[in-house]
Amino acid sequence: MALPPRNHMIFRQLFDQVSSTYTYLLADERTREAVLIDSVFEQHARDAALIRELGLKLLSTLDTHCHADHVTGAWLMKAALGSKIGLSREYGAENVDLPLSHGDIVRFGAEALEVRATPGHTNGCLSFVAADHKMVFTGDALLVRGAGRTDFQQGDPRRLFRSIREQLLTLPDECVVYPGHDYEGRTSSTIGEERLYNPRIGGGAREEDFVGYMKNLGLPHPKQLAVALPANMRAGEPENGRTPARPDWGPVATTYAGFPEIAPEWVARHRDAVNVVDVRSPAEFDGELGHLEGARLIPLDELRARALEVPADKPVVVVCQTGKRSGLGTVILAKAGITRVANIAGGMVRWRELGLPS
Ligand SMILES: [Fe+2]
Repeated sequence: MALPPRNHMIFRQLFDQVSSTYTYLLADERTREAVLIDSVFEQHARDAALIRELGLKLLSTLDTHCHADHVTGAWLMKAALGSKIGLSREYGAENVDLPLSHGDIVRFGAEALEVRATPGHTNGCLSFVAADHKMVFTGDALLVRGAGRTDFQQGDPRRLFRSIREQLLTLPDECVVYPGHDYEGRTSSTIGEERLYNPRIGGGAREEDFVGYMKNLGLPHPKQLAVALPANMRAGEPENGRTPARPDWGPVATTYAGFPEIAPEWVARHRDAVNVVDVRSPAEFDGELGHLEGARLIPLDELRARALEVPADKPVVVVCQTGKRSGLGTVILAKAGITRVANIAGGMVRWRELGLPS
């Protein structure tokens, strides 16, 4: 009998366009246990949907540091999925479940990340190194052909120089560097590449070169600083302690594809509370799968032009054969001003499989 294949690590790199932040989802393929590095508050629905769709169990969110340019999604993830909040103990931030220090190990399934203190951009910056030293998540300590600024938040170019030299450039050449940000479309690098070509610290640069470079960057103050720092000192908990408004009319979940979706079982139990729009063709509407009683037929091709025909006195649920066309239908109706709208997951095919009444 063949040996079971070696565990494979699930890896996703996600991007927030507003703050140019990279978020990383890592998971053990077999146990499905996962960690999320440097999540972004505004991307919560996207990240939570991906975790749900991949069938992962999020153990913790890890932040490489207390960010000045965006608010972490850590608290929202904990509220939604029960994940623990990991951050350097240096900051003394609120709501932290895993106060991390140099040398700690964060495990998920058979995978693990080694915590290395890499201060200098801030006093609590951490880098997370994969157990096999094939990848490192450097936050803002080491960036692709750059390094995090050191002109606020207890920044210290001499400390950052030593952190990069001693904790990061000592990793193997082939170790892939995944940064916390990039503003030029670069997604990753390697330790060997940065050792050679990083214009601030590579190619034999000495401490004085680095310090001189970092002191003369002349960067503008980060726009989000006044909002982001205090929020991140609470691990991203909103000031009123409440999660941002979600649809109040039903358990609507946003899919990773970006569509609002609702379970057919819920719709079957709340038929009087919603209007049903069926976006299939007339032939399908009267075909073998049949249609839901009271459903209004507007084929998808005509939905844009006929959106005003959709009554908005109740939330609108959209259905098609398998939930694909109706997913697009929810986007069309939302653009037409119908904000309370969701796709019936799985369409009429799932509805029939579940044996729900028409
Ligand atoms: Fe930063």
